[in-house]
Amino acid sequence: MAAKVIDGKAFAATVREKVASHVTRLKEENGITPGLAVVLVGEDPASQVYVRSKGKQTVEVGMNSYEHKLDASTSEADLLALIDKLNNDPAVHGILVQLPLPSHLNSDLVINSIDPAKDVDGFHISNVGLLGTGQKAMVPCTPLGCLMMLRDYHGSLSGMNAVVIGRSNIVGKPMANLLLGDSCTVTIAHSRTKDLAAVVRQADIVVAAVGRPEMVHGDWIKEGATVIDVGINRVDAGEGKTRLVGDVHYESASAVAGAITPVPGGVGPMTIACLLANTLTACCRANGLAEPEGLTA
Ligand code: GUN
Repeated sequence: MAAKVIDGKAFAATVREKVASHVTRLKEENGITPGLAVVLVGEDPASQVYVRSKGKQTVEVGMNSYEHKLDASTSEADLLALIDKLNNDPAVHGILVQLPLPSHLNSDLVINSIDPAKDVDGFHISNVGLLGTGQKAMVPCTPLGCLMMLRDYHGSLSGMNAVVIGRSNIVGKPMANLLLGDSCTVTIAHSRTKDLAAVVRQADIVVAAVGRPEMVHGDWIKEGATVIDVGINRVDAGEGKTRLVGDVHYESASAVAGAITPVPGGVGPMTIACLLANTLTACCRANGLAEPEGLTA
């Protein structure tokens, strides 16, 4: 039987609606408007598209958006001074420094200069440590979006075998920690894993975040498994055209899986929705208010 398609675009819209209604209440009952500051250094075209989209969606859910566009030659001292200013600005509840940064800037140093309470990317070493030890953290947006979709589809994930393919700090490692937090038995596999197909065949949940187009084939998937495809790869479609594919070979995998996220329209739209959710969460925590239900890990 063909897999159920998990519609990330529709799910992201419901997340944004929840965020927007909570923001309305915060404004009316507490006189607080959550604010997100996004810092872009340089003119990377893909980053410009992302930042524009983040700003637009931030405003659409009723939050304040503060965009800081800096020249590609900005010094580390000037960037750190801006972050210090944002750290101390009570109207700013979330700070995101768009990556990648130009090569003369030390990304780790820059990310770790953000106030962890405002680190809506969840990249600060304090948040990584809090998540790794099962404490309340700011959680990276893409794995948070994957977790929300899995919880929505399955209810409880307790006792399930989860295989995460990919060991990045942005997706693979935090995803594994989140699944552990929901009592899955978790394996982190990657491009060097021996007999990766056999490892993936054990999984009730597969999260593919390895960055290799259509690497995971249907014959790797256990019958009825849930497949979350984080990959976004642009490949040649012939006649001078390109198309987007995931890390999973959709056609063969969807014939075996119980449920699957498509690319595009799966995990992708959830990332910015979770950034908005994280900004709201950071705002609530900063003001000692109850956190939004269903929007945190
Ligand atoms: N560049 C691409 N994706 C991301 C993201 O999620 N956060 C940041 N800060 N930069 C990115």
